[in-house]
Amino acid sequence: MVLSHLISTRSIADRVGHNESVVKRIGVLTSGGDAPGMNAAVRAVVRTAVHRNVEIVGFYHGWEGVIQNEFKEMTSKTVGGIIDRGGTILRSARSARFREKAGREEAMANLRKNEIEGLVVIGGDGSLTGALKLQEEFDYPVMGVPGSIDNDISGTDYSIGFDTAVNTAVDGIDRLRDTAYSHDRVFVVEVMGRRNGFIAVECALAGGAEAVLIPEVPYSLLDICDSLKAAAELGKRSSIIVVAEGAARASDVKTFIEKNTGFDTRYTVLGHLQRGGSPTMFDRVLALRLGSQATNRLISGFRGEMAGVDGGKLVSHPLTYVLSTERQIDPSKLVLVEQMA
Ligand code: F6P
Repeated sequence: MVLSHLISTRSIADRVGHNESVVKRIGVLTSGGDAPGMNAAVRAVVRTAVHRNVEIVGFYHGWEGVIQNEFKEMTSKTVGGIIDRGGTILRSARSARFREKAGREEAMANLRKNEIEGLVVIGGDGSLTGALKLQEEFDYPVMGVPGSIDNDISGTDYSIGFDTAVNTAVDGIDRLRDTAYSHDRVFVVEVMGRRNGFIAVECALAGGAEAVLIPEVPYSLLDICDSLKAAAELGKRSSIIVVAEGAARASDVKTFIEKNTGFDTRYTVLGHLQRGGSPTMFDRVLALRLGSQATNRLISGFRGEMAGVDGGKLVSHPLTYVLSTERQIDPSKLVLVEQMA
């Protein structure tokens, strides 16, 4: 029974064309802000390589570890028991040195010295930009896996960590609503997302917020105050306003609302709470699929791509496309926030 299952799994791998390996030894790293599910992705990369009889090393602290030649040989065992762990066992960093050509030259020299023939890079757009630079400058094979709570990467419906981060933030909003309701207060909740509002919009929808402020769309705090006053006249005594960190500071919004409405208002910055914790089922499965897809394609000779999902299906887009295309907020979601308020 078990044997026949293994045989059929192998034949599926063969049938999708993952049967010929053009490399013997590759590396994996996690870079930029950590995201829940990165460990599941590392696990997928390592176990896919092992399955294809390709040696695999893990670099520590992202690109900085490549510059410093800080790595470890990985086996199936080294990634055991990590699928449910937040953060990244490979650690992460934002490397200023790798942004300079001299740093990339040092990194390249180490990759050559250690006979590492390609890299799977798990991270956000900064990390993937570094990967593309390495490929363009040194003709070095790289593959990207989108790992960022911000979900601001084109070429994929979801990046690893977004689902968990939003669920964590929504849990926080649910708790704040209890107090907002009990004390007839307005709560302004600041969520992460860097220059984008993807986290904020999803949180506003799932958290039943009365309004959302995001950097992509102009907003008027006076209009929001007017809506709060109109709602209060109809008997609504508590509200939640979600603010993307790239749009405004929650403390400023709180002060403005209090001054212009006279309502008892508080603010909370959820901050790095959103980055940690055990990944959701969605992020685990996403990470396994994307990590495995990127590794299989690297081993089969593809390069310069990022694995992604499009309507649930696995895809692989050129990094040049991914990094030159801006991901857009779905306007119908903003309309929905307004209609549901
Ligand atoms: O990119 C992920 C992210 O958490 C952003 O949402 C946020 O703006 C940034 O990283 C925070 O970075 P740091 O952890 O370096 O403060």
